[in-house]
This record gives sequence, C-alpha cells and structure tokens, in this order.
Amino acid sequence: MDRFLELRRLVSPGVALVHPITIMRGENAVLMDSEGRRYIDFTSGIGVVNLGHGNPEIGEAVEKALKNLWHLCFMVANYPGYVEVVEKLVETVPGDFEKRGALFNSGAEAVENAVKIARHVTKRPYAVSFENSFHGRTYLAMALTGKYEPYKVDFEPFPSAVEHVPFPYCYRCPFGQSYPGCGLECMDYVKKHFFKTRVPPHKIACFIIEPIQGEGGFVPAPPEYLRELRSVCDEHGIVFIDDEVQTGFCRTGRFYAIEHSGVAPDLVTVGKALANGLPLSAVAGKASLMDNMPPGSLGSTFGGNPVACAAAVKVFEIMKRDDLAGRAMRLGELIAERLGEFFERFELVGDVRGLGVMRAFELVKDRRSKEPAVKETSMILEHARRRGLLLLKAGLYSNVVRLHPPLTIEEELLNKGLDTVEECLKEVSKQPS
Ligand SMILES: Cc1ncc(COP(=O)(O)O)c(C=O)c1O
Repeated sequence: MDRFLELRRLVSPGVALVHPITIMRGENAVLMDSEGRRYIDFTSGIGVVNLGHGNPEIGEAVEKALKNLWHLCFMVANYPGYVEVVEKLVETVPGDFEKRGALFNSGAEAVENAVKIARHVTKRPYAVSFENSFHGRTYLAMALTGKYEPYKVDFEPFPSAVEHVPFPYCYRCPFGQSYPGCGLECMDYVKKHFFKTRVPPHKIACFIIEPIQGEGGFVPAPPEYLRELRSVCDEHGIVFIDDEVQTGFCRTGRFYAIEHSGVAPDLVTVGKALANGLPLSAVAGKASLMDNMPPGSLGSTFGGNPVACAAAVKVFEIMKRDDLAGRAMRLGELIAERLGEFFERFELVGDVRGLGVMRAFELVKDRRSKEPAVKETSMILEHARRRGLLLLKAGLYSNVVRLHPPLTIEEELLNKGLDTVEECLKEVSKQPS
C-alpha cells in the first residue's frame, strides 16, 4: 500500500472511497496512479472534467487568473470573471425571458440557494423533490435527497417543509405501469393524491427535479413528464427548479439536459463541470424571481472565486467553439450501440439507458423479478479497475454501472474502455451468483 493510502486512515470514513488507489496525474481521459499504472477514466471525477483532466487551455486561463487576482469576494468589489460567467449562464440556460444568475461553491449550495429564492419570492414553505433523487449533503440538500441510505442515516431531524413524490423511474415504475402506455400515472398521483393528502399546491414554493437522476442511476424522466410538471407549476405558481449539477455542460448532448424536453425551467442549478474541476456552482434563471432577493441574502466568501471563474469562462468558450454537445451526441450513439449489444448478450444486464455521454446499465439477477445484482455490480467495478478502467456505480440499489467519460475522450480510448466493460460482463456473468 502506498504512503498516501495509508494516510487515508486519518480521514473520516464518512468520506467514502470507491477505488483504493492514489491518483497522481491526469491527462484528458487517462489517470496515472502512484504505482505508475494507467487507467481509462469513465468517471470524470463524478461528471466534472467534461473537458478532460489537465486541459491545457483551461490550465493557461487558470494560471493567468492566479497571477492577476485569486481572491476578492464579490461582495467587496466587482471583478470580470464573475460577471462574465453569469453572462454566459444567462445566455445558455433555456427560457425566452430576462435572466439573472449568482455564483456559489458546490452543487449543494446552489440547490440550497435555489430553494431559498423560491421560498422568498413565493412566500410559500414547501419544497417538493423526488424519490431516488440526490441533491447534496448539506442539511437542506440532504433533506431534499430522496434516498435514505447512506445519505440520511441518523441525521434526523431534517429541515421541515420538504416532501417527496415518486420519480418516473420507468424501469421500476412505482405504480407497476409500463411506459409509454401508462398515461403518466405518476403525474396523476401528484395532482389527484399528493396535493390532496400531503400538501396543497398553494403551499408549494418549488418542485426540484433532476431531468436525469444522477446518483439515482442515470434515470431519465420522460420528456412528457417534465412538460407536465412545467404545466402543473404554471397552473399553481410553483417555481420549477431544474437541478443540472450532474447533467449540465453538454454531457447529455445539449448544454442542459432539460433542453431535450423543450421545458424552460424557472431556475437552474449547476456545479460540477461548470469550471471543469475548480469549485464553482451557480443558480441562474428568471430575473422576475432573482431580482427579488434583498442585498445580502445571497452569496458567500468564496462563491464565484476569480480563478474558478476564469476556468468556467474558458469552459463556455471551448464547449461552444468545439461543439461539445454535438460530440457528446456522437459518442453517446456509439456507447448506446455497445450497451444495446450488452443487453442482447448478457442476461445480467436488465436495462440500458441515458443520453449523450451520460449512459448506464442496470444489473439484475433475473430479468423478470428485476432483483438487483448488487454484488455483481461491485465485481464489475473491481474487475474493470484491475484491467485499467475506472467506473462508478449508482442507483437506489447500487446496482447500476454508470459511464461518465470526459466528452473529449479519444474514440479509440472510449472503445477500449467499452471492450473492457464487455470483458468484465463476460467474466462476472460466468460466476455463480
Ligand atoms: C444532481 C445533483 N445535485 C446536487 C449535487 C451536489 O453537488 P456537490 O457534491 O457539489 O455539493 C450533486 C452531486 O452529485 C448532484 O448530482
């Protein structure tokens, strides 16, 4: 064991570790560990380095920013990077209306602030999120999160006025229906049951939804569901918060995943890939909401750090110039084709899904019962690492293998990684369960 892994004993085990290796360097989609081993990276640091590790153009922008000004606090005085990032955000988030933005440090912080804005403006208490969702680990974000273990265990009491409704997880429909013939019973439930039994709509400040659940196992909400949710929000004056922390920045083949549905959310939360690995997050959306926030009610010491902003400005520039959304679509088709083959060949693969370069497969012991193949999922991750590929799992039952490569990954490397996934599936399929 290397010295750094030994030192990890000093870190609280509350910060979990998926792969027991120490990474020393990264170059685009390749990571090098302390023993000199190389790995193809299908994690992107959990959907963060969409433009690859060590991207030289971003590095140059960061170095320049470091030389000029590395901290000020936006509440002290204005500086270019912050307002330039907000300018790019309001240009790119969907919606044909006047928009505003504000910058923060992490995805959870963006989520908290979006809910703050919704509550402040509507003067209503309730925030409604979805089962199987993930919105972060701070208290409100944790309360919004729709999975108990491991995120919420023994952390009660949670902030009040947070409710959950079923997510349209069609492979495991909570209503036993099958899509698309279901008539969106899950939405009917919200309108006819939830509003009557739990919270009336005039008490709801916001719905917050991931258009594709990330930690929940890359579960896309059907576009019709998102459109229906939009109309429910319109009807009742509820703020529609689109959590794009994991789906944003071209990963799904659009700048923001919600664009696939044509829905314009009221507020969008972003983080992760916004600055390609430097800590930066944001809320952007309707000026009519964000202009209502009193001075001093938003912001933080580090939120919108100049170095992180310089990285983000470069991210926007490269994504547009190199049409990364188009590239994500093309690579996504390639991945989808291979996943389709895996589905045909391996009984273990119960479902394949996703959009763009945000793809996953769900492992089951038996396709009829859909019993989650949890052990097998962990084995795939281990086998893959031994073969030089880093993967992540996800899902309500931790039985989903998610593929999260940088959008800049070379096609040859992507194929090599997918070949490795295939070998692992072959190997694990042979083992008695
Ligand atoms: C959809 C979503 N929202 C919020 C968060 C929280 O982001 P952070 O870990 O930066 O606080 C995550 C993190 O995985 C996420 O996937």
